[in-house]
Amino acid sequence: MATKKNKILSTSINKKTSSLMEDFNSSIKIDKRLIEEDIAVTKAHVDNLHKLGTLSNKELNKIHKGLSSIQNEYQIGKLKFTKKNEDIHMNIEFFLFQKIGDTALKLHTGRSRNDQVATDTRLWVIKSSKILQAKIKNLMSSILKQTKIHQDTIIPGFTHLQIAQPVLLSHHLLAYLEMFKRDLDYYTFCIKGSDENVLGSAALAGSNYSLNGNLLNKKLKFTKSKNNSMDGVSDRDFCMYFLNASSMTAIHLSKLSAELILWSSNLFEMFKVHEEYSTGSSIMPQKRNPDSIELVRSKSNIIRSKAMELSNVISGIPLTYFKDFQEDKKIIFECFDELSICLDVMSDVIKKSQFNKDKGMHLCNQYFATSTDLADYLVIEKKIPFRKSYKIIAEIVQYAQKNNKNLSQLDIVEFQLFEKLIDKKIYQYVDVKKSLGRKKTPMSTNPKNVTKNIKNYESFLK
Ligand code: ARG
Repeated sequence: MATKKNKILSTSINKKTSSLMEDFNSSIKIDKRLIEEDIAVTKAHVDNLHKLGTLSNKELNKIHKGLSSIQNEYQIGKLKFTKKNEDIHMNIEFFLFQKIGDTALKLHTGRSRNDQVATDTRLWVIKSSKILQAKIKNLMSSILKQTKIHQDTIIPGFTHLQIAQPVLLSHHLLAYLEMFKRDLDYYTFCIKGSDENVLGSAALAGSNYSLNGNLLNKKLKFTKSKNNSMDGVSDRDFCMYFLNASSMTAIHLSKLSAELILWSSNLFEMFKVHEEYSTGSSIMPQKRNPDSIELVRSKSNIIRSKAMELSNVISGIPLTYFKDFQEDKKIIFECFDELSICLDVMSDVIKKSQFNKDKGMHLCNQYFATSTDLADYLVIEKKIPFRKSYKIIAEIVQYAQKNNKNLSQLDIVEFQLFEKLIDKKIYQYVDVKKSLGRKKTPMSTNPKNVTKNIKNYESFLK
């Protein structure tokens, strides 16, 4: 009996496929993940066929019940997919045939696996983008938590990894919130781009049945239908949007990882990875390694290659459907899985680990982080042109370095060796904390601006 069913539902009409080809061609191991979407799409399709009179009430009910029970069996792990049935679409059709018999043979009326798989994948991308957005928000909340703890903590801001100017750690962390917020927008763009129903494209030319786009869209929660059936079955741009959005998130994750790895080094001592996320060395008892973040960094870099993988698959392909497209799912699934776990890990690492409250201030003093403020002191208080004041301060810094002093350890006579006009007021500009309040632009590290941004993110993430 199974053989007979197999024959009816088989996609190879005459010749028997070799078992090597069966292995090679089958995608069920991967696309079984689309089961929920595939069943939803099939249910919407049969509802439509019923409206057209192609299926009776009784047949429609039978199909719905059969599909629901297939879904239940999948959830309890009872479903045994076979590669003989190639992919998720054929497997489900086959299971349905086993359950309800000949009525299942009407299922595939007026559609093709070409529009079916594109629709399934669109639904999956929309669902997965929303999951990733939630995970990004979760990470943002962890960052915001540290931002609030360290609202007043001062660190040196770096350029070229050289100590540059004092900033608030909260300002630094808020910069990451800006990046991840852009990623949320990117996924929203991806969701919008995926939100086009392609059912009705059938194989490529459209369907001979007047399938009702509005009905399908309502059932599957699409807001619009495709304008062109040929584009419908061959468009994988929405997968690229997904991978590109994921690439951006991965870039931001790898940036954050690289930074935290540096900061957790003994040379920086600005960050301590929580024990739950670091490991010891098998030989050096004193060490704790930030393995969790190192893995986030390497995985993020691998995630970025996924967009390249898919663009290699889809570029240079004439219209319309080619089996090449079957490879798309492996790529987007891998991207999703890796990015999901990276976001979860990073979120928990940041929530539980500790930023050093004091080290930053120390580094700012030791490495002359307020030198720019001193140059501005000469401009503002003594009306010396900036290029001149810059030079004077550079000489003062060199002098301090030579004498093993930081700026606050220089006495006024030493300052005056370089510029007679300098008075005691210069110590206000040497002060690292005061440097922050001196910033006047709306995007600056001025504590008032930082407080405002924290408030904005609190309400955004609520
Ligand atoms: N498993 C196929 C895929 O993922 C389904 C579409 C097959 N269509 C076809 N004409 N062979 O792309």
